[in-house]
Formats: sequence, structure tokens, C-alpha cells
Amino acid sequence: MRSLVTGGAGFIGSNLVDQLLKIGHEVTVVDNEFSDAHDQFYWNPKAYNVNCDIRDYRALTNAFGSGIDYVFHLAAEARIQPAIKNPIEAVSINSVGTCTVLQCAREAGVKRLIYSSTSSSYGMNPYPNVETQPDDCLNPYSVSKVNGEKLSTMYTDLFDLPTVILRYFNVYGERQPLRGQYAPVIGIFLRQLAAGEPLTIVGDGDQRRDFTHVSDVVNANIMAAISNPDPQACGQVYNVGTGTNYSVNEIAAMISDNTINIPPRIGESRITQANVDKIWKTFGWKSKVKLEDWIKGALS
Ligand SMILES: NC(=O)c1ccc[n+]([C@@H]2O[C@H](COP(=O)([O-])OP(=O)(O)OC[C@H]3O[C@@H](n4cnc5c(N)ncnc54)[C@H](O)[C@@H]3O)[C@@H](O)[C@H]2O)c1
Repeated sequence: MRSLVTGGAGFIGSNLVDQLLKIGHEVTVVDNEFSDAHDQFYWNPKAYNVNCDIRDYRALTNAFGSGIDYVFHLAAEARIQPAIKNPIEAVSINSVGTCTVLQCAREAGVKRLIYSSTSSSYGMNPYPNVETQPDDCLNPYSVSKVNGEKLSTMYTDLFDLPTVILRYFNVYGERQPLRGQYAPVIGIFLRQLAAGEPLTIVGDGDQRRDFTHVSDVVNANIMAAISNPDPQACGQVYNVGTGTNYSVNEIAAMISDNTINIPPRIGESRITQANVDKIWKTFGWKSKVKLEDWIKGALS
């Protein structure tokens, strides 16, 4: 099996690349080290590594080479606040970039393309979040990622490219971004603890998120690619979460009692929690890692 992973030198993508290689896939990685959230990138030397921009159609076509079976499309401006600061770049990478990846996958005749989307598409919808809820995009990141979803569905309907859209709920774990004030909350808290600094709780800290371990997200990608060949499974959205949520205050309490509050941020939802019935029924996936256990392990 030959797989191509865009964003494969980043947090989730590099974990996916390692697992694909472990199960015997030949892997091509496309990444341009765009993200400034990492101190380092994670290129696996056993993969065929291509440093190029996903918007570069010619370079991407070359990366597809003589044939690819599965595409895992993770390259993106992956955070909300940087996308609010620079919407043009975010929309360009996440929408035009996704269209370029879809077009190359179509021309290569791949078996399936898995698109990484986001729970932030649910915005202020009531929880638990079900795939049938309407989109509620509160920021340029969510708009551009949902645009990628619509393009994926359209490529399935119009061009018969089998796509599967996965909406991840806050991902944490090994290689999570640690740099800067907009790194995801668990990474920031662990960095602050290690530096002897107070944990910075955004707003009142009562906002709740469904936190999903990166190994579970990796498995969701692989199962969405290979566990159910039914074409009816394609062109649709699936939640990837645990079905449980925690407030930021509850996370902080698991890590340290040295905390301070900083101003709330615009454009972010208040509560997310995945309903995961659909992905369980279609692909037989559910999460395995419990947040409390992982944090206990990270602190020991
Ligand atoms: N981390 C989460 O909690 C989370 C939640 C929901 C969805 N997602 C989605 O998962 C995917 C991966 O996110 P992540 O957390 O691993 O972020 P990340 O920033 O670690 O990884 C994204 C990778 O894409 C690369 N990239 C960005 N623009 C590119 C371009 N134009 N060409 C080539 N490569 C480019 C970056 O260099 C980076 O290595 C993204 O699509 C993101 O929207 C992440």
C-alpha cells in the first residue's frame, strides 16, 4: 500500500506517518514547515519526504509520483487565533490548498482521501455535537476548514473521488505543539509547569472541550481508509472524539494549583463534546485513551 500524508512533519501527521510505516505502507510526506507552533518538525527518515507547499500543483503532482493508494490530508493553518490574525493565508492554505490536494488525488486515481477537519465547525451548537447539526463557523479557520469539507464532498459527488471527512475534537499527546501563547492548552500547561510558571487559564476557564489522544486520531484515519470499502461511507462527515468533555479549570487542576486567568479570546466556541455513534457504526472506531490517565503518565 502506498500512502501520501500532507502535513506529515507536524503533530498529528507525523504520528500517522510512523504508524503507517509500522503497518507496512510505503509513505510519501508533503510538508513545508509552515507552522511556527513547533520547535522542530518530525520528518521520518523511512518515508519519502517532499518539502513543498500543497498549493504548488506541479510539485504536488510530482510528489504523487507513479501511484498512491491513500491520501491523508492534514496540512493546514491548524490554529484559530493565527487564522484570525491572518485570514488570507489561512483561507489560501486550507481552501485553495485542499482543492489542489483533491485535484491531484483525483488525477492520480487514489482509492480514498481522508480529510482532517475540525470540531470548531460546530461553533455554538448545543452539545453533544452530532454530524447533522448545521455549521456555525465563528472564525476564518473554521470557515476555511468547512470549505475543505464541502470541496471533499463535491469531489466525491461530481468526480467520484472517494473522500472521508473526519472532524477532530481537541487533539493532545506526543509531539503536540508547545511554542507560543496559542499552542493547545494541554501543551501550554505542561510547558508552564516545567518552567515553574503559573498555568494561564483563558477567560473564566469554564469552557469545555472533548480532548482526544493523537493515537486515537491516527487509528481513526487508518480505519476510515481501510475498514469499510462501501462507497456509501464516502463524501460524509464523521466526528472523532471521546464523547466526554472537561473544562479548562478541570484540566488545570489535574496539573497544578498555580494558575492565573488571562483575557478571553474571540471566535472560539464555549462547549464541545462529540457524539461518536456514526464513526462507530460505519468504521468500527472508538477512542481508547483516557485524558486523566495520559496526564498522570505525563506528570510521573
Ligand atoms: N490539533 C488539533 O487539536 C486539531 C483539531 C481539529 C483539526 N485539526 C486538523 O488536523 C490537521 C493537523 O493539525 P496539527 O495539530 O497536526 O497541526 P500542525 O501545525 O502540527 O500540522 C500541520 C502541518 O501542515 C504543514 N503545512 C501548513 N501549511 C502547509 C502548506 N501550505 N504546504 C505544506 N504543508 C503545510 C505544517 O508545516 C505542519 O507541519 C490540520 O488539518 C488541523 O486543521 C487539528
